[in-house]
Amino acid sequence: MIEIKNVTKTYKSGDLEFQALKGVSFTVEDGEFVAIMGPSGSGKSTLMHILGALDTPTSGTYFLDGKDVSTLTDDELADIRKEKIGFVFQSFNLLPRTTVLRNTMLPLVYAGVSEEERKSRAIKALIAAGMNESHFHHLSNQLSGGQIQRVAISRALVNDPSLILADEPTGNLDTKTGQIVLGTFQKLNKDFGRTIILITHEPDVAEHADRIILFATV
Ligand SMILES: Nc1ncnc2c1ncn2[C@@H]1O[C@H](COP(=O)(O)OP(=O)(O)O)[C@@H](O)[C@H]1O
Ligand SMILES: [Mg+2]
Repeated sequence: MIEIKNVTKTYKSGDLEFQALKGVSFTVEDGEFVAIMGPSGSGKSTLMHILGALDTPTSGTYFLDGKDVSTLTDDELADIRKEKIGFVFQSFNLLPRTTVLRNTMLPLVYAGVSEEERKSRAIKALIAAGMNESHFHHLSNQLSGGQIQRVAISRALVNDPSLILADEPTGNLDTKTGQIVLGTFQKLNKDFGRTIILITHEPDVAEHADRIILFATV
């Protein structure tokens, strides 16, 4: 499904250049649960943006389902994100004072899906992410950290993506809540066949995946 070859990323600001990725290569097959582990500053989030079609590499190639994503236009990248990819970020980005259900429906607004369909897909995603039905109408500011992350996972699932990218999804959670969230990813992988790439700097988080790709030190 994913083939990354000699990918580099150089950030430029004014005369300064900084190479955040120095030639990364790996493949991920359909249905795998992979962790990408490396220390802070090693380029993990930079790589996730490229994998998620939010950004393109400076050089190298990225094939996703046989298509070279590194050469696509912004519109084409947006289509790939809409159809194939679900994101879970460390900062959850929920809309404040908005219900769990509305927050989960949100990504589908941009995809032009009808209100009724948005609702039914959001409910399905919330159930798959292990959110209790009694919380569907709670406001985002009435939730615990673990519940917020469940909404974030639901939101990543709502467009029915084949690939889920999670960047430090347990970074803001206590150990016990983190375990529950990681269990949810395992379930999504084993029971629902989603390909999952979990980015982390913590070995005991990475261990939940079936394979670990190690990023060298900076
Ligand atoms: N938009 C940007 N402009 C300039 N430098 C950046 C930008 N994003 C990240 N960097 C730099 O690239 C390096 C890798 O960052 P990042 O991908 O966020 O690493 P990680 O997620 O592993 O902590 C860091 O040194 C960071 O400061
Ligand atoms: Mg990061």
